[in-house]
Amino acid sequence: MSYLETNIIVAKRIKITNHLADLGIDNVRKEIIEGLNAGQKYISSKFFYDEKGSKLFEDITQLPEYYPTRTEKSILKEIAPKLMSGLKNTDVVELGSGDCSKITILLSAVPEENLESIQYVPVDVSRSAINESAQQLVEKFPELSINGLVLDFITQLDLIPRKRKRLFLFLGSTLGNFTKSVASNFMVNLSRNMNAGDSFVLGLDLVKPIEILHKAYNDSRGVTADFNKNILNALNNIVETNFNIVDFEHDAFFNKEKSRIEMHLIAKKDVVVTSPYFEKKILIRKGENIHTENSNKYSIERIQQLAEITGLKIKNVLLM
Ligand code: AVJ
Repeated sequence: MSYLETNIIVAKRIKITNHLADLGIDNVRKEIIEGLNAGQKYISSKFFYDEKGSKLFEDITQLPEYYPTRTEKSILKEIAPKLMSGLKNTDVVELGSGDCSKITILLSAVPEENLESIQYVPVDVSRSAINESAQQLVEKFPELSINGLVLDFITQLDLIPRKRKRLFLFLGSTLGNFTKSVASNFMVNLSRNMNAGDSFVLGLDLVKPIEILHKAYNDSRGVTADFNKNILNALNNIVETNFNIVDFEHDAFFNKEKSRIEMHLIAKKDVVVTSPYFEKKILIRKGENIHTENSNKYSIERIQQLAEITGLKIKNVLLM
């Protein structure tokens, strides 16, 4: 069979829609500029995931120090038979789908005769990640239909189709990147969006000894540092800033009081940031930092509180 022929079959089963443009590039730029002008400067962690950033994050998930992905995958292997063996006529909606390694574990537990009735709906801000994983998935699961949605799931949740029964997956502790209030609002919105009979699997990283946490975000190869700095390249593309990543240093530490890893970029010297979209130049003083990520580390109690405000019933908790 020719490569081309496979591609045609493959293409038949894939549909990818990019909704990011609906947000309005002006609003996106405004959001970035607001963060750079704030007292404590910040950049939303969603801007990590340009093509290079998505790749760097995949590299992070392979690092010996970065335990969350590996741990979650073994949990998924364990629950896959129970979760997937009876699944039919369902949209499997994965929020923040990234690469396709986790869904592959789950889909492998779906009986082949059921796969045709399943639609996989990867939802992510990274178009390149959805493209690539869709190609790989239809090769592995030729009966599967894929309806990829490139969108910002905090503000565009309503664009997810709701005609069929749905299994939502929100893995990788991505919810941990949201502040407390954004996380609560998100959970409430999602539960309101859910129909009776829909279900939801949430993957969250629990708080653990500080040394383990610290190493996971300060790996010896410096991949996390590269990932952190690359957000400045992403900004250079979106708002045409003149950031040079060598002017900044990676900083990641555990904030005990808030139970979260924080990532920052510290200026190694005075930096003058320009952009055609700025009203005036922005000065970042030597030693000043830009906050780029929170990675909240949950406790069981906090997860139960989250569930309570949504009205969802916790059916199962799997710890590892
Ligand atoms: C996107 C939530 C999986 O917070 O651990 C990895 C991103 N940042 N290393 C996390 C990340 C630094 C990550 N998640």
